[in-house]
Amino acid sequence: MIRADAARVAPAARLRGELRLPGDKSISHRALLLATLARGESRITGAGDGADVRSTAGIMQALGASVALSARDAADDRNVDYRVVSSGADGLTEPAAALECGNSGTSLRLIAGMVAGLPMTCILDGDASLRRRPVARIIEPLRAMGAELHARNDDSLPPLTVVGRTPLRAVDVTTPVPSAQVKSAILLAALRADGRTTVREHVATRDHTERMLRARGVPVDRVAEADGGVSWSMNGGVAVQAIDQQVPGDVSAAAFWLVAASIHPDAELTLRGVGVNPTRRAVIDLLRAMGADIEERPIGESAAGDVDAGAGEPMADLVVRSAYLRAIDLGPADVAAAIDEIPVLCLAAARARGTTTIRGAGELRHKESDRIAGIATGLTAMGVQVDVDGDDLRIHGGATLRGATTDSLDDHRLAMTFAVAGLSASDTMTIERPDSAAISYPGFLSDLERVRA
Ligand code: S3P
Repeated sequence: MIRADAARVAPAARLRGELRLPGDKSISHRALLLATLARGESRITGAGDGADVRSTAGIMQALGASVALSARDAADDRNVDYRVVSSGADGLTEPAAALECGNSGTSLRLIAGMVAGLPMTCILDGDASLRRRPVARIIEPLRAMGAELHARNDDSLPPLTVVGRTPLRAVDVTTPVPSAQVKSAILLAALRADGRTTVREHVATRDHTERMLRARGVPVDRVAEADGGVSWSMNGGVAVQAIDQQVPGDVSAAAFWLVAASIHPDAELTLRGVGVNPTRRAVIDLLRAMGADIEERPIGESAAGDVDAGAGEPMADLVVRSAYLRAIDLGPADVAAAIDEIPVLCLAAARARGTTTIRGAGELRHKESDRIAGIATGLTAMGVQVDVDGDDLRIHGGATLRGATTDSLDDHRLAMTFAVAGLSASDTMTIERPDSAAISYPGFLSDLERVRA
């Protein structure tokens, strides 16, 4: 791939258009994993074709599944359909080489849980950014279940070696930090455990794994706890079934357009087929609380919903128009619910009336980059006053966004945040290392040009 050193984004007079987003990244990963654990053929339509999902597809193949990929049509360069044929969990084979997760933390954490109960040794590795991301959070619960795990730097950083055990021990654990990746790793391991596993979370995180397990014939029970947390329980030893499923558009990708249009004075964008799962839609509701004009037209549930009521993923078309935004206060539960959208919500806050506070955002430091530092540096360069105090941020809104040079830090969500800022800035914005957008959103830079009316 030829990498661009920088992208230049000029201000746009108007924003108009209709966009179809990449298939949801979180759901695409899980669909590939569960199709590999199932015996038979699963078709996955509309999976996101970002680099992260490609990493997972490659690893499923290395574990012995047949993963055939077909492009959708010439007009759709961001989604693919997969046909996965597998002999099921017991037919998977030990990979000969390290499993390359690239930039994808979701691949690393979820696959560690998946292989922890298989009779094989796997080494999970990735790029320089992934090698800085914490893994102790999955090592501890998976060890408690009986698997053996080792990692670099006193078991804290990848590469991660997983020596699987069959069967694993069922556990009752509370996740140490709000993390759907940790929860999902434990639930995937629980498939291979002897007995009933319970995972408790103090703050609810995305529930795609749980919905998809149900859709594939594995009962998972949800109990809402009095403190606002949630616990999930499931029995091990239940076979995962092969099914066909459709992946909705990625709401985390939609978030860039929701903010781009909201902060622009003359905008109307239509986003087709966006996933609006209640555990993922916080960005829509938070923007509405800030005064955003977002119309939601439900279009039913995607195919997985046909299998078991409540197990599917709801979808909607979204229409977003220019609005006057006002500041908002976000606490730790909001941060967990909108974890991937906080950078672009910071951009919305920069244009909103008043001062936005975001408390308890420490997890943002452990993403593809330190996103607190990255967003604060980028917004400051644009003339926005941002105060960082430990894991808390204060963004003083209402400033005119100045065209500036900002660095994506090779982080897709920062690259796209700074790029959509350029549409509403007073002058051309330069984004260094913009290609990282393709981690989750291939075709992003061409959509950026397309929405200029
Ligand atoms: C993801 C969960 C989130 C999110 C990541 C995808 C997932 O991470 O940031 O982009 O698919 O489970 P954590 O749950 O670890 O915060």
